[in-house]
Amino acid sequence: WVRCTVRDGGPGFRSEDLPHVFEPFFSKRRGGTGLGLSIVQRILEEHQGVIRLRNHPEGGAEVTLLLPAVSSPVSTQHVDSLAS
Ligand SMILES: Nc1ncnc2c1ncn2[C@@H]1O[C@H](COP(=O)(O)OP(=O)(O)O)[C@@H](O)[C@H]1O
Ligand SMILES: [Mg+2]
Repeated sequence: WVRCTVRDGGPGFRSEDLPHVFEPFFSKRRGGTGLGLSIVQRILEEHQGVIRLRNHPEGGAEVTLLLPAVSSPVSTQHVDSLAS
């Protein structure tokens, strides 16, 4: 897996919001569309990936994206087929 984790310096996810944050148009942010996390989750699913949310123990919202790593023989083959 390739893992990308980002963490912000805000108050973190509110526990009552967490069950809903991936629902399209769910937003508790002024001016929000509620589309950000639902679109990201869709993109990850389409690439057999996973998105995980939590509040960091030392504060802030933390988002982890996991994507399956392509094994090197496949990626070599892909590069070769592009070159020929
Ligand atoms: N970094 C964050 N910290 C705390 N809550 C967040 C964070 N990102 C998203 N949320 C919660 O999830 C909801 C949905 O987020 P998102 O899909 O990005 O839509 P939007 O940003 O337009 O509200 C937010 O309205 C908020 O309640
Ligand atoms: Mg957002």
